[in-house]
Amino acid sequence: MPTTTLSPIRRSKQPGFAERIWCVLKAWVRNPTEVATVCPSSPFLTKHLAERDCVRKASRIVELGPGAGGTTQALLASMRTDARLLAIEKTDAFAESLGAITDPRLTLEFADACDLIDLVTKHDFGKVDVAISGIPFSHLPSMSAKRIIQSVHEVLRPGGVFIAYQLTSDVKDYARPLFGPPKTEIIPMNLPPLQSFDWTKVEAGCDPASDCS
Ligand SMILES: C[S@@+](CC[C@H](N)C(=O)[O-])C[C@H]1O[C@@H](n2cnc3c(N)ncnc32)[C@H](O)[C@@H]1O
Repeated sequence: MPTTTLSPIRRSKQPGFAERIWCVLKAWVRNPTEVATVCPSSPFLTKHLAERDCVRKASRIVELGPGAGGTTQALLASMRTDARLLAIEKTDAFAESLGAITDPRLTLEFADACDLIDLVTKHDFGKVDVAISGIPFSHLPSMSAKRIIQSVHEVLRPGGVFIAYQLTSDVKDYARPLFGPPKTEIIPMNLPPLQSFDWTKVEAGCDPASDCS
C-alpha cells in the first residue's frame, strides 16, 4: 500500500476530546470494521498508556492506529524532549485531526501497519523502545495480524515493550509465539472498557514463554 507522510501543520488548534468524538464517529460511519470504535480512548486510558516509565524513558516510540490523536497527544506529553514518535494510521479520515498536532517530535504516516518495517527504515528510526497499538486485531485478516506482530517484534530492541489496548484478546494469541504471555490489565474507565496487554521483548535465544530475568 502506498504511504503518505503528512506535514505537521494542518490547522492551528489541536482537537480536544469532544472534537475527537465527532471525528471518530464520522470515520466509523464510513469504515466501522477498520476504525472499530465509536468513541476515542478516554483521558483515563490515554494517561494509563502514556504515563509509564518505558514511555518516559524511550528514545523511539511507534504508535499503530493513532485514530483522532488522543493517545498520540498523551504520548507526546509524556515523552522526552529528544524522543521521536512515528504514528501509523490507515484511515485517512483522521488526517485533519492528526495533522493538527504540530509537535516536531511526531512523524505521521498514512499507511498500513503491515508496512511497519519499511516505515521505520524510511524514517531512520533505528531500534524501537516502545510500540503501542490500538488497531483492532480481532478485525484483521489473520495474515495481516501475524505480519504486524512479526514486524513489531523485529523493530523492537531487546528489552523493548509492546503494548496493545483492545476490546478482545485475539492479539494475545497472535503475539504469544514470539512474545510469550502478556501482563494483562482491565481498563474500566473507558467506553467500552478495554484490556491492555504488555510484553517485553526478551533477548535472543531466550524462550519467551519462560521467565528469563
Ligand atoms: C480503536 S481505534 C484507536 C484510536 C486511538 N488510538 C484512540 O485510542 O482513540 C483503532 C485505530 O486503528 C486504525 N487501524 C486499523 N487497522 C489499521 C492498520 N492495519 N494499520 C494502521 N492503522 C489501523 C483505525 O483506523 C483506528 O484509527
